[in-house]
Amino acid sequence: MTSFVSVAIDGPVGAGKSSIARNAAKKLGFIYVDTGALYRAVGLYCHRNGVDMKNNAAVTAVLSEIQPEIRLIDGTQHIYLNKEDVSEEIRLPEISMAASAVSAVPEVRASLLELQRNMAKTNNVIMDGRDIGTVVLPDATVKIFLTAAPEIRAKRRYDELIAKGVETTFEEVLADLNQRDYNDSHRATAPLKQAEDAVLADTSGLDFEQSCELICNIIKEKL
Ligand code: DC
Repeated sequence: MTSFVSVAIDGPVGAGKSSIARNAAKKLGFIYVDTGALYRAVGLYCHRNGVDMKNNAAVTAVLSEIQPEIRLIDGTQHIYLNKEDVSEEIRLPEISMAASAVSAVPEVRASLLELQRNMAKTNNVIMDGRDIGTVVLPDATVKIFLTAAPEIRAKRRYDELIAKGVETTFEEVLADLNQRDYNDSHRATAPLKQAEDAVLADTSGLDFEQSCELICNIIKEKL
């Protein structure tokens, strides 16, 4: 049986997980899997259909209507919701909050588990999220917990949103980030936390290139 290499990168909002993981995956020839996109697809469906996301039963009741899918197109991950490409729409700030809300529902997490694990069974992957090293891939080859100070993460996220033309303020982004971090790390099921065997990487004082180098070095040391 061929066994594949898996790199788990977990951490709070805006730590740079996706851009750093994408960069590292390219360098290593691995597939990058952004698991947050799956929760965002579920959040988008609930948002569009007026489902009360604080009500576990209401969210669970619509799960059978939701088929999220990850497709790789020219090496880039696209996320589909019931056959519709929603890769752009899921990035809206209100969908970030919706994703965080639905991700606290245990049935939502259970419904997405196999899909994530299957990606790692059939590919060398770098997978980012909140519970990859703790729950999804507890036997990952390399586990990294990526973080940075909240203000620094908020500034990065703010710059990204402004570049995309989203109207917002730094204060709004920081408040949103703190709220999501709180939700994600205080939920009962698979909360955001550093796995015991994960390497802690703090990118507060590092620019993008330096952060990528740090992560690539941690990965290479463990392979
Ligand atoms: O990584 P992201 O910001 O796109 O994730 C959106 C939300 O989805 C996040 O606030 C919490 C949830 N999430 C999760 O609970 N577990 C994951 N593995 C990935 C994301």
